Amino acid sequence: MQDDQVNRKPRYDVVIFGASGFTGKYVIREALKFLHTPSSPSPLKTLALAGRSHSKIAQSLKWAAHPNPPPPDLPILTADTSDPPSLRRLASQAKLILNCVGPFRLYGEPVVAACVDSGCDYLDICGEPEFMERMEAGYHEKAAEKGSLVISACGFDSVPAELGLLFNSRQWVPPAVPNRVEAYLSLESSKRVVGNIGTYESAVLGVANADKLQELRRSRPKKPRPLIPGPPPPKGSLVEHQKKFDLWAVKLPSADSIVVRRTLVSLTQNPRGIAGVHEDAEQIERRETFWSSVKPAHFGVKMGTKSLLGIFRVIAVGVFIGLFGKNSFGRRLLLKFPSFFSLGWFKKKGPTEDEVSSASFKMWFVGHGYSDSSLATSGNAKPDLEIITRVIGPEIGYLTTPIILVQCGLILLHQRESLPKGGVFTPGIIFGPTDLQERLQKHGICFDVISKNSLPA
Ligand SMILES: NC(=O)c1ccc[n+]([C@@H]2O[C@H](COP(=O)([O-])OP(=O)(O)OC[C@H]3O[C@@H](n4cnc5c(N)ncnc54)[C@H](OP(=O)(O)O)[C@@H]3O)[C@@H](O)[C@H]2O)c1
Repeated sequence: MQDDQVNRKPRYDVVIFGASGFTGKYVIREALKFLHTPSSPSPLKTLALAGRSHSKIAQSLKWAAHPNPPPPDLPILTADTSDPPSLRRLASQAKLILNCVGPFRLYGEPVVAACVDSGCDYLDICGEPEFMERMEAGYHEKAAEKGSLVISACGFDSVPAELGLLFNSRQWVPPAVPNRVEAYLSLESSKRVVGNIGTYESAVLGVANADKLQELRRSRPKKPRPLIPGPPPPKGSLVEHQKKFDLWAVKLPSADSIVVRRTLVSLTQNPRGIAGVHEDAEQIERRETFWSSVKPAHFGVKMGTKSLLGIFRVIAVGVFIGLFGKNSFGRRLLLKFPSFFSLGWFKKKGPTEDEVSSASFKMWFVGHGYSDSSLATSGNAKPDLEIITRVIGPEIGYLTTPIILVQCGLILLHQRESLPKGGVFTPGIIFGPTDLQERLQKHGICFDVISKNSLPA
């Protein structure tokens, strides 16, 4: 490590930035569960909250104080993304920043820059592929040099997809190999599935700037493609009826498949994963064994609903955002009337606590591949084996996301020396070989093998 890293003496283990936001307040509540006390030791010994309004953060803290009350003197720091010195002050005081300030395309870069400059670690809950790839292009080398780990998408976007794909892939025991894995996401609730405007705004801006991602990719050196046995999957129809789970499904253009692909590309470049700062022999073996058991596959995500009408609703919202998001007048309309244009899925005030607690998700991973890898190169390379796995958990945005973010943060605090020194990475690459999956299982996000079946010839 560099001298300036060794000499860093941050006052706080974790700073939650954007603590006044809708998601931020749920992240505070989750983090308070793990704050160190003499009766429940934790690597999270010092926590601070940050944002641009002291009084709004104090309100969030009051809301989040049940059932785990904070210490009376929990620090509240002020920082604004339009004021880089305030971000540098924040980053210099923190081992790790959990960034909940979005849309990330608008506000994320100065936070990443401040963390990288001061060698502070950075996790966020971004679901915006262009932001993530732009940060990788612009900050990877400096982050590696400064000893700052920068990992986006440590929320529902995209950890269930990343760990879910790695979990499915590891069920293919040699000589079996997967060819493709399709994930089917089903959002369930005894009340209503509702998201806050922050996520909706990020999605609208993502669509508006879709061409920027293509531009960025064109400007960067080509990376090696993962070697996947067998032919690419057939295109399939726009709407599919998945009989096994009784779901109607349509392609979901979320960040998940893009993040997973980046993980598989990184694995192609580094088949044994990325070495940690000071790994012992056991940790090296764990990492190498883990990655040697992962087999790349084509990956896609579909949104599933019980009724065909539900799928038309998904398509209609996609069409609204796709059409109106392309120009500034349309975007103003979309953002002024979120509930109308999202057909009730997003609200300016977000979901009620009841709506949050009564929601859950299921994500099925249907893997198709070959019982023997040699079959993949034969003339009629039709998959003959199917392995279905599943990830389930509570409401995605405000329960699952904080659980994941906080567990990723605890791993950084607890296992920092066995993780890479620094750089911009996907969650799969950093957390895949750690105990993240076990930790999530312990906190209500479960991974199961559902079935292994031969497919008819
Ligand atoms: N990965 C996932 O699955 C997942 C789940 C949930 C949310 N998210 C993402 O998280 C982000 C936030 O969503 P949300 O619903 O929580 O939004 P939100 O309620 O609007 O919160 C936004 C937060 O950003 C802060 N902020 C805005 N501009 C700022 C600036 N210039 N400087 C400092 N802070 C600033 C706000 O502070 P003020 O209170 O002072 O305005 C607020 O704390 C979105 O990008 C969303 O997509 C992702």
